[in-house]
Amino acid sequence: MPLAVPKVAVIGGGGNVGSAIAFSLIAMKFPVTVLVVDIDDKLAMGQALDIGDAAFLSSGTCRMGTFEEAGQCDVIIITAGARQRPNEPRSELIGRNYSIIKSIVEKMGSIKKSSVILMVTNPVDILTDIAQKVSGLPRNQVIGSGTFLDSGRLRNELSNVMGIAPSSIHSGMMGEHGDAQFAAWSMASVGGTPLLEHPKLKNVNLDELEKGVSRKAYEIIEAKGSTYYGVGMHVAHIAKSILGDECKVYPVCTYVDEYQCYLSVPAIVGSTGSSTLPLNLSDAEQEKLKSAANKIKSLCDKY
Ligand code: LAC
Repeated sequence: MPLAVPKVAVIGGGGNVGSAIAFSLIAMKFPVTVLVVDIDDKLAMGQALDIGDAAFLSSGTCRMGTFEEAGQCDVIIITAGARQRPNEPRSELIGRNYSIIKSIVEKMGSIKKSSVILMVTNPVDILTDIAQKVSGLPRNQVIGSGTFLDSGRLRNELSNVMGIAPSSIHSGMMGEHGDAQFAAWSMASVGGTPLLEHPKLKNVNLDELEKGVSRKAYEIIEAKGSTYYGVGMHVAHIAKSILGDECKVYPVCTYVDEYQCYLSVPAIVGSTGSSTLPLNLSDAEQEKLKSAANKIKSLCDKY
């Protein structure tokens, strides 16, 4: 009896971000069934058929699904909602997206006890908290894409100045997938050398580099209206780590007991969702994490 092929629902799969996630999952060539779910059935069908044409060359399948089917999937990715306008902070989206997320969870009806919800809709740190409260799933089973994409952007920038492959630059952005994100320089290293002591960064203005990373989405939105390929591939990697119980360490939105809220911090991502790790931050970085937590908690308390 072959093992059951894992199922992933992409709610909001009719849109740019959702369809980019669905396509990335298929392009990663592992056995997976991707359900494209959207309030716009025609758009969901169109995306599913189009991505399905790529599936022939891969190991996955893609079809349109319903909200009820989504609730029974192994991973439920939620991307539906309003997106940032040019120069609009992600936190401004919460009013419009709170009710959308609440209605999505309610439309799914019952949710499989072992399902993992992977929030993507912004402001993702706050909406992950809301999805957990509305779904009632254990906190570790409701996570968000967090600063994984921002960390990819940081590693790319560092790679450009250091001439080292991004995958060998162990560094990340933390805090909030928003304007309260910060680079955890004290935890970063290359080949065992702490990044802050690396000779290749001697003449690099790290504050400027960090600022450029945190503003990258605004730059892309100004140029093309929205971002989707970068987040699509990063979210697909998070979903794959859950589905395959790969236990990769990614900076995702995860519930941090010490701060009593969801925060984007490095966590182990496996079949039961996320589990936190000890953080070895400098005093200044701990202050930044604390202010991100205060910002997230103050926004969550409004809902
Ligand atoms: C970005 C969106 C996903 O950072 O918030 O591109």
